[in-house]
Amino acid sequence: MCGIVGYIGQKEKTMNVLLNGLERLEYRGYDSTGIAYFHKNNVEILKKTGKLNQLKNVVNKNIQSEIGIGHTRWATHGKPSELNAHPHCCGKITAVHNGIIENMNSLKKKLQDEGISFISDTDTEVLVALLNYEYEHTNHMVTAMERTMSQIIGSYAVVFINEDDKDCLYVMKKDSPLLLGIGNQETYIASDMSAFCEFTNQYCILDDEEYGVVEKNHYHIYKDGKEIKKDIEKIEGLSCLSNKEAYDCYMHKEIYDIPKILKELFTFYEDEHSHLIPDYKKYHKIQIVACGSAYHAGMIGKCLFEQFANFPVEVEYASEYRYKTIFADENTLVIFVSQSGETADTIACAKKIKSMGVDSLAIVNVYNSTLSRLTNYVYYMKAGEERAVATTKGYSSQVAIFVILLREWMKQQKTWSKELEAMYQDGKEKLLKVITPCLKQYEHFSWISNLINQPSNFFIGRRSDYALSMEASLKLKEVSYLNSSAYAAGELKHGTISLIEEKTPVFAIATDEYTYSKTKSNLMEVKARGGYVILATLDTLDDSIDVDEKIIIPDVNPLFQSIMTILPFQLLSYHVAKKLKLDIDHPRNLAKSVTVE
Ligand code: F6R
Repeated sequence: MCGIVGYIGQKEKTMNVLLNGLERLEYRGYDSTGIAYFHKNNVEILKKTGKLNQLKNVVNKNIQSEIGIGHTRWATHGKPSELNAHPHCCGKITAVHNGIIENMNSLKKKLQDEGISFISDTDTEVLVALLNYEYEHTNHMVTAMERTMSQIIGSYAVVFINEDDKDCLYVMKKDSPLLLGIGNQETYIASDMSAFCEFTNQYCILDDEEYGVVEKNHYHIYKDGKEIKKDIEKIEGLSCLSNKEAYDCYMHKEIYDIPKILKELFTFYEDEHSHLIPDYKKYHKIQIVACGSAYHAGMIGKCLFEQFANFPVEVEYASEYRYKTIFADENTLVIFVSQSGETADTIACAKKIKSMGVDSLAIVNVYNSTLSRLTNYVYYMKAGEERAVATTKGYSSQVAIFVILLREWMKQQKTWSKELEAMYQDGKEKLLKVITPCLKQYEHFSWISNLINQPSNFFIGRRSDYALSMEASLKLKEVSYLNSSAYAAGELKHGTISLIEEKTPVFAIATDEYTYSKTKSNLMEVKARGGYVILATLDTLDDSIDVDEKIIIPDVNPLFQSIMTILPFQLLSYHVAKKLKLDIDHPRNLAKSVTVE
């Protein structure tokens, strides 16, 4: 979602830092861009709808300015347009904002009653007008920020400049991420460190309700009216940046990253880092809370724990969990799953759980992300930077972490038998051996055209194959825009089968020996109604079944099967989107890091 960049430092560097920073934040998803900077004592603002290149085409990169702010906007209030794009200016204040001001209507009315008028539909313009109003009435920016923050309800990461202070930037933060990058005689500000990590490896994270003044070589951060000291942290090895290498897009490259990531992940958690594991023995219940693909990974986690540890697990959407009655106590472990660690709904749940004193564990990719700092324990996914909006390697590493967790959990409960360990070692070895050659096999599906122009695609499966169906269906729709839904295979005939007509594509994922024959019967029901059936099944299961197409998947074993089974579907979605000539890494309307609810 919206990305923020700010810079104060060397005048010949500002444009480069802003534009590079915005480029690094492109992956978050956006629909318009803008920058503002001081030039010859005036504030200049440039905004464009569409891709960053539109903005780059109109920016004079030789402009000398010591201070600038930049923004990629993902529309919440008002459609994508130059008027609604950030930065927004009111009086002496020009700002960029990530988040949502929930009480914008009442604030807007109050400001309108004071004679202030608005030109955009955005909540940000209201926020800027309020800041300017308070500044005019106090003539003191820090006090104006405090007064503004006391009136706004919602989430915000804000960076702004004030025409009266040409040697500093101002920041305010609540519930949306904001970091400072500390350089030599220069300071960077961004929504995430990828925007500045090529320039500095020192940073500090702003916490909720902090605000402050940022200069070239100092920064003063406040909370509740008092200046506070912030810890400076170090980005290890500047490894946060990735590039496409020879691949045509990040999604394709990231699918090919999976074998290496898995190998490193298993080694890391098996060898040195098992001490990260909390004392599992005290827990009677696990709740897994996440959104989107991370929720689907949680569903696989549930299947693993129920099947192998005979332990009950609930999986909840974070957007629902945060508003429901929560049944969790000192014997509950709540596991939050999030690639970005910045998903607003997941974070809200983690805050709630923390305030209840319930133990929590995060499965998260981004080091030091908000979620990782809210939970008692953290399992890092170690998937490296994921830039394609649609997750692939992130999802796969989340599922792999659940296998690792299951093993550690059962070891502590003394229920991890020699047979299970042998199954684990054998499955892992098989998976790592077959995965790369298999990716190559799934690079060509001759029947892709049969999916396009159909009103709907369906995915069905049972147990973990149902969880995989949900992920496969989401992947297809998000990158190819084909309508697609997933169902528990047995549910189809309770309503949805009315949608099956001649040539309707139905994918059946049936890798589970226990339910294979049941899913097969459901397939036959679809086939009898003219559906176009694509069966994804194991090389070891009976394949005499008459379907239109087959995707054959190596039998790894039930512990690792889900990691293997999703791969053809990740590649299928990529190939459909490619055939349709879509922007695979940046699907329309989607954001990588969903920082508003
Ligand atoms: C789908 C996708 C999303 C995310 C979801 C949660 O490809 O990427 O569904 O899984 O927005 O994001 P994180 O994992 O960052 O919390």
